[in-house]
Amino acid sequence: MSSIRTAVFPVAGLGTRFLPATKAIAKEMLTVVDKPLIQYASEEAVAAGMENLVFVVGRTKNAIIDHYDKAYELETELALRKKDALLEVVQQVVPSHIHCVFIRQSEALGLGHAVLCAEPAIGNKPFAVLLPDDLIYNKDGPSCIQQMVDVYEKKQGSVIGTQTVPIAESHKYGMVAGPKLEDRLARVDDLIEKPSAEESPSDQAVVGRYILTPAILDVLRTTQRGAGNEIQLTDAIAELRKKEEIYAYSFEGRRYDCGSKNGYLEANVEIALQHDEMAEEFKEYLRNLKLD
Ligand code: G1P
Repeated sequence: MSSIRTAVFPVAGLGTRFLPATKAIAKEMLTVVDKPLIQYASEEAVAAGMENLVFVVGRTKNAIIDHYDKAYELETELALRKKDALLEVVQQVVPSHIHCVFIRQSEALGLGHAVLCAEPAIGNKPFAVLLPDDLIYNKDGPSCIQQMVDVYEKKQGSVIGTQTVPIAESHKYGMVAGPKLEDRLARVDDLIEKPSAEESPSDQAVVGRYILTPAILDVLRTTQRGAGNEIQLTDAIAELRKKEEIYAYSFEGRRYDCGSKNGYLEANVEIALQHDEMAEEFKEYLRNLKLD
């Protein structure tokens, strides 16, 4: 059984890059092919053994809460019409052993603040954080968070998911540096939120997957506002590093930045091309598409 039982999903962002789509729904409810982004992340967590799903929600929370609630009318209707496969799809959004908790982040004070809001549901155990707009797909292998749970089991320390990015994009990410320990694994010696290319310690960017020891919560209580005038998780991890080893894990799989329109479109196209039901028809459509 995995030692990481709790996954936190910070989903309180305004999603301004996707307006007007995100005027009334959270950006994490945007669909990639046939599932909302948040469900890719929750399935990743559940498949890695997590049972407590903590959603830190904001103003446009209702669709997320409804998505993870029982849909009595819909389920009754599907059962009556003998649509068993669809009923299963609906019921499997929250498998029966999963507990969902919703916590309101009333002020948009940043990712670090969102994680601290989840504290009452985390307790004194290590936990995962998944940012659903980073959709990470590893079709035939273990998911990103599963790979990181495996690292945690071995190292018993906080693990941050990372990938190589063009240095010119460092201002979009937390950037980390440190000596390589094993294949895909490094120790974190340096960690900066959204540095300029000149300030960046390396080309290794933090992606939206973390496994954190509960000591991060104490640090977050006193973390001051940083980049973007927000309470940054990266700054708290940099502080935690002074007390505990932090590891950077360069995961296996493809990350789609679904916080950007391009990344979101790429995810839709590539996941459709791997989708059991629609891949063939969609390939045919793309083959015939005239591009100038
Ligand atoms: C957040 C984190 C950043 C990380 C990024 C990954 O930034 O603060 O360290 O690199 O997610 O997607 P955001 O994209 O929310 O500005």
